Amino acid sequence: MGIRFNQVSHGYTSFADGLYTAIKDISFEISDKNEFIALVGHTGSGKSTLAKHMNALIFPTSGTLEIFGKTITSKRDKKIKYNDIRKKVGLVFQFPEYQLFEETVEKDIMFGPMNFKISKEEAKALAKESLNLVGLDDSYLTRNPYNLSGGEKKRVSIAGILAMNPDILVLDEPTSGLDPAGRRVLMDLFKDIHDKTKKSVIIITHDMDLVYQYFNRVLVMNEGHLIFDGDPEKLFREKDLFKNHLDYPNTIKVLDYLNKSLGINLDIYKRTIEEALLEIKGAEKL
Ligand SMILES: Nc1ncnc2c1ncn2[C@@H]1O[C@H](COP(=O)(O)OP(=O)(O)OP(=O)(O)O)[C@@H](O)[C@H]1O
Ligand SMILES: [Mg+2]
Repeated sequence: MGIRFNQVSHGYTSFADGLYTAIKDISFEISDKNEFIALVGHTGSGKSTLAKHMNALIFPTSGTLEIFGKTITSKRDKKIKYNDIRKKVGLVFQFPEYQLFEETVEKDIMFGPMNFKISKEEAKALAKESLNLVGLDDSYLTRNPYNLSGGEKKRVSIAGILAMNPDILVLDEPTSGLDPAGRRVLMDLFKDIHDKTKKSVIIITHDMDLVYQYFNRVLVMNEGHLIFDGDPEKLFREKDLFKNHLDYPNTIKVLDYLNKSLGINLDIYKRTIEEALLEIKGAEKL
């Protein structure tokens, strides 16, 4: 078992707003291997808060969490090495600005691996390799992260986590703000890492096309509650997504529109545009 939430709630206390409970009574498990999970939900539903618990960046205010056998409660436990947990579960933040702080991209990506007692040369090689994996060439190594575009910053922050080779990867909106080609490159990279290593990967996204195309398990947050955990197609068949401020994948929307406007009966549950087109082509011949 990788990560288990046992009735976890988290309340933020701030001077301006007082207590705000962002996630409520959450229980579910993520295996340490073979999982490729999408985490979705409307803005403010608690996705990032949930993700930050997964590597003990924040603690539950009630309930407990088990991460690779270590029990996390609301209190810091001197016996637990939290940095070890953060090496095992790599979290890419939603806002890369919070993750990048060195003066060059190379130094930034090397920062994590340098904590593992590897040589500077090895860390440099790793930085280059990780940077190339996320689709940026060597010319970026000497750039200042502060001056990069939003999408470039995002890629560099992902490279920094990949370089640490964590056992579980948690990515908070890794494809937001990227162009369509960039989105695909990164999704294919995450899928490839998962397929080759069997590592569990959890990805937060608002993009339901990606959810349907790539994932076999989806978690849905709504107002701090986990309201669904299962197969995406089951979600689209069972839940009124619009009520939960979520969208349907484009394939479903288009096929459903055709059915309603033409009075035909296409199978609307197609994961990709290619599959949807084949379904439409099949109907043309009838
Ligand atoms: N540090 C904080 N102090 C007080 N309230 C917070 C804090 N961080 C988050 N919140 C509140 O907790 C709720 C959940 O926030 P969270 O960032 O987990 O949502 P999210 O689902 O990731 O949203 P988004 O899709 O916009 O990223 C929000 O209402 C937010 O305002
Ligand atoms: Mg968020």
